[in-house]
Amino acid sequence: MIAEVKNQSYKIAVVPGDGTGPEVIAEAVKVLGAASGKNGFKLDLAYFDYGGERYLKTGKVLEDKELAGLKKFDAILLGAVGHPDVKPGIMERGLLLKMRFGLDQYINLRPVKLYPGVETPLKDKGPEQIDFVVVRENTEGLYVGEGKFINKGKKNEIALQVSRNTRKGVERCIRFAFEFTRRRNKRKKLTLCGKTNVLNYAHDLWWRTFQETAGEYSDIQTDYAHVDATCMWMIKNPEWFDVIVTDNMFGDIITDLGAMIQGGMGIAAGGNLNPEGVSMFEPIGGSAPKYTGKNVINPLAAICAAGMMAEHLGEEKAASQIETAVIDVTKNKLKSLAAGKMGYGTREVGDLVVEALTKQ
Ligand code: IPM
Ligand code: MN
Repeated sequence: MIAEVKNQSYKIAVVPGDGTGPEVIAEAVKVLGAASGKNGFKLDLAYFDYGGERYLKTGKVLEDKELAGLKKFDAILLGAVGHPDVKPGIMERGLLLKMRFGLDQYINLRPVKLYPGVETPLKDKGPEQIDFVVVRENTEGLYVGEGKFINKGKKNEIALQVSRNTRKGVERCIRFAFEFTRRRNKRKKLTLCGKTNVLNYAHDLWWRTFQETAGEYSDIQTDYAHVDATCMWMIKNPEWFDVIVTDNMFGDIITDLGAMIQGGMGIAAGGNLNPEGVSMFEPIGGSAPKYTGKNVINPLAAICAAGMMAEHLGEEKAASQIETAVIDVTKNKLKSLAAGKMGYGTREVGDLVVEALTKQ
């Protein structure tokens, strides 16, 4: 087939980050390159060395002007943050959360989809049963870092950690989730995951906002599950879920569980979305320092993140080709999705995806 010519070009900020980040990003960029060639759009990539290595050399994590610079891009592709020689929290808060908050990426979209050929720890569950999306609020809740110590270091010490939930923040997240459920057009069911029986302020607001917004979406079936029960149902009956909307902390936790039932961190990707601004796409796993530089890490999560980015940019065809190529590879080639057990190296998996994409 002759490539379509659209003359469309996208400015992408690429932040490979730490550990295995650069290795998986190289493969994601390779696949994006193939998809752009096939679909006639161009990529204008700018690389940034934000991460632990730079921090250790310069003391800089992400400066305000660097953050502002990222606003000029159409999207951001991030590898991984977290460096073994940097105290936990510095890169997470100073880089990842600073981008999410600073760019007002108020949705963290995390698909939990089991691809054919991928092993799940759930007995008797397959791709038919494991296909849902978590819409995680991404700029509020316990992640705002508000709180204080009282009597620090003393026997009567108290540590307060505030969960900030604004009506605006909760409502835009819930509204996005309803719209997304409608667009996704699968079971048209949206489940609110909360803890209304205990969090009498925060989740009272979530609950009321959910009920109020639901009135505008009569085509969407609504459901509610406490977060602990959500964990149970994700294992027992994952097919009950279509879209789950939840707060930042619960979303963080249930999406690691989600990643495990879809085959692990090797495949789980997410998008930090600002529907009105610049969005960032990333594999949801960490920097896996022990696998760094060994060509053993699975690049599929980063490749899937690149696919989500293509979709977000309006290149739906490229996005679906990337997904089809990934499925081809999980179904027909890889022995396992675990690092070092794929039967191929990181670069070879990238090549296999390109091959599967090119032949479509
Ligand atoms: C994630 C990560 C981050 C989070 C960490 C690294 C701050 O676990 O993207 O889920 O908690 O959001
Ligand atoms: Mn997490």
